[in-house]
Amino acid sequence: MTRTTDRSHHVIAASELQPGQRVLTEIRGREVGVFNVDGQYYAIGNYCPHMGGPCAEGLVTGMFDADDRGDVSFTRDGEILCCPWHGWQFDLKTGDHLGHSKLRVLTYDVFEEDGELYVRM
Ligand code: FES
Repeated sequence: MTRTTDRSHHVIAASELQPGQRVLTEIRGREVGVFNVDGQYYAIGNYCPHMGGPCAEGLVTGMFDADDRGDVSFTRDGEILCCPWHGWQFDLKTGDHLGHSKLRVLTYDVFEEDGELYVRM
């Protein structure tokens, strides 16, 4: 069954986007970053809700977390996106801001069909 529709936009061959990589593209006049996070694909608008910075071009990292005893560990490596302008951090999988539950970047559905990646917009 084909999943492509007139709202599907070809991005790149899946083989060209390896885990840890991203590609920037433009769809309907909007810049979008498409990321491969451990074999799963995510698409985020390249427009930060803070001051419009190019957040999809920022550092991809993880986060430090502490347990009840205060032991700190580095977690979620490759899942956190930092806007390059002022460092706001977003969950690549959901677009949610890490510190403010009401802030988020736009996200889009990504799917693979016949070895090609598409963003639905
Ligand atoms: S514009 Fe993204 S953190 Fe300020």
